Amino acid sequence: MAGDKIAGYWSAAYTVHKNKGLTCAGSGAPNTGCHGNNQSINMHGSISKGLLTRNLELPVTPSAPYEYSQYQLCFDCHDNYPAVTKEVVLGYKQGGHYDVYWAPTPYYTLGIQSMFRDRYISDPNNYPAYWGGVNQSYNDSNWGYDPYTPLHNYHLSIYDFFNYGWNYRGVETGRASCVTCHNVHGTNGTVRSIYDEFGIIAFSKTFPGGEVDLYKKLTKYDNLTLKSYPINCNYNCHDMVPGTSYWYAPPDE
Ligand code: HEC
Ligand code: HEC
Repeated sequence: MAGDKIAGYWSAAYTVHKNKGLTCAGSGAPNTGCHGNNQSINMHGSISKGLLTRNLELPVTPSAPYEYSQYQLCFDCHDNYPAVTKEVVLGYKQGGHYDVYWAPTPYYTLGIQSMFRDRYISDPNNYPAYWGGVNQSYNDSNWGYDPYTPLHNYHLSIYDFFNYGWNYRGVETGRASCVTCHNVHGTNGTVRSIYDEFGIIAFSKTFPGGEVDLYKKLTKYDNLTLKSYPINCNYNCHDMVPGTSYWYAPPDE
């Protein structure tokens, strides 16, 4: 499937990697490409799956805790761009609200930067004053109790059901990687290069006092979507649990 589609993705409307000067073959360093063998151009074979020039574990071994090398292809290059470093994707403040054992970070930082995070307030007494006592539709969570979730950390961790939750290319189950959710080749303009198929839509709500809440909603989470190309989940959790929005601002870390 991918072989048929990649040329189309690469010429789609929203192709961050292409627009930043990347191409197909290369060493994985800035301004080169992602395909090759051990950091040199070679289209005949590679020590890394996906004909990749540096390692990306596909899929990640279910029981193995986080290791940098699992995502080396992405993070080595991203280290050169402050907006997308590993600390941006996975970092949060030690002892802050997002610092939960079931969504660990290898990188404590001054504060959470990833927008892929969620808040949830179960007790109406704790609603922000500006809500005026009224619950909000985006105040939901997967299991109905986690008040703060750093969603990259959770989905990539050994604690998520994603443990055996990804069916890489529909043939090998294991833990999710970056490309479970991100279309690195290009999209039609979805949120941060997430597969268009997820149907993620951004919303904002402004309250009378000028306070603003920002959230995004997963609109396509039926079995057919999540369990088939290109997402290829092995399980579909979002069909079983109520949480389909992530409320990310203000972060209240
Ligand atoms: C379960 C799905 C999922 C996985 C797995 C995932 N991402 Fe994301 N990522 C997202 C979503 C959704 C956003 C958009 C957040 C927003 O802006 O609302 C995002 C945002 C980002 C951003 C923009 C900065 C930010 O965090 O807000 C970067 C960079 C990124 N991801 C890189 C990665 C890398 C690298 C990996 C693998 C180590 C990865 N992602 C794994 C879903 C995922
Ligand atoms: C050769 C360099 C390079 C490699 C390798 C690379 N990226 Fe990127 N990536 C970039 C650059 C450059 C940007 C844009 C940074 C910026 O906005 O300043 C970017 C941005 C992104 C974004 C944000 C997209 C958006 O819509 O804003 C995501 C998500 C992302 N990369 C995912 C990945 C994943 C996943 C991998 C590994 C499979 C990867 N990248 C490998 C260079 C690279």
